[in-house]
Amino acid sequence: MIRLSQLAQYKAEGKPFSCLTCYDASFAKAMEIAEIDSILIGDSLGMVIQGHDSTLPVTVEDIAYHTRAVARANHHAFIMADLPFMSYATLPDAIRAATTMMQAGAHAVKLEGGAWLAETIRVLKQNGIPTCVHLGLTPQSVNVFGGYKLQGRNRDAADHLLADCQAVVDAGAALLLLEVVPAQLAKEVQARFNVPVIGIGAGVDCDGQVLVMHDMLGLNFEKPARFVHDFLQGKGNIVDAFRDFHHSVQKRAYPEAKHAFHIAL
Ligand code: KIV
Ligand code: NA
Repeated sequence: MIRLSQLAQYKAEGKPFSCLTCYDASFAKAMEIAEIDSILIGDSLGMVIQGHDSTLPVTVEDIAYHTRAVARANHHAFIMADLPFMSYATLPDAIRAATTMMQAGAHAVKLEGGAWLAETIRVLKQNGIPTCVHLGLTPQSVNVFGGYKLQGRNRDAADHLLADCQAVVDAGAALLLLEVVPAQLAKEVQARFNVPVIGIGAGVDCDGQVLVMHDMLGLNFEKPARFVHDFLQGKGNIVDAFRDFHHSVQKRAYPEAKHAFHIAL
């Protein structure tokens, strides 16, 4: 059984860990058999399950419903649930939404943002709720960014992201998640902070790697992002695809250099 202390120990030992998104009991059981270390009930379900073109329409009850299904079937992984768009804009909202996720079976909640989350992180931790803070390309802010674009692409932006990481770690964040940032920046974050750093499109030097399950099973009918690899290709079944992902992450065979963004900072 993987819990927060185990992920922290993996970081201390330099052993990378696997994380996949998951939304239902059948895939959650397959991930248990494949010994995937961590599961995220991501608000990506707005796209891959509900058919929306962003994560913005997803509600607290949507995530809670899928978290309950996953938590019933998987007794191995560390389970994180996303707090969806505008469910943590105020402290009372955040407390309410995070309570729902923990009672649905999550072991931690994930929020998108930076230094402004400090008080929320502190209060949630005081109440027994670990947080994973998602930085870099945060899809709930797609309309501020003007698209799904590489973040932290110069020294100033990288330093700003590092300062946000410092603020949320100081507030008590249990994990960091970096999406679509230069590999060098992710490496700096991984080295500087004592909490496990999970990456997606953030290079091989993160403590953990996450992918959207549908993407890594080749169920993506748009042009896949640079960091996506189809782990089902050449295999007969889904459990083997999950196992290959898990072992490829452990061996640092995934992500390869071609899956990352390389900018000298
Ligand atoms: O919602 C999601 O799937 C995520 C991952 C891409 C990290 O937040
Ligand atoms: Na998400």
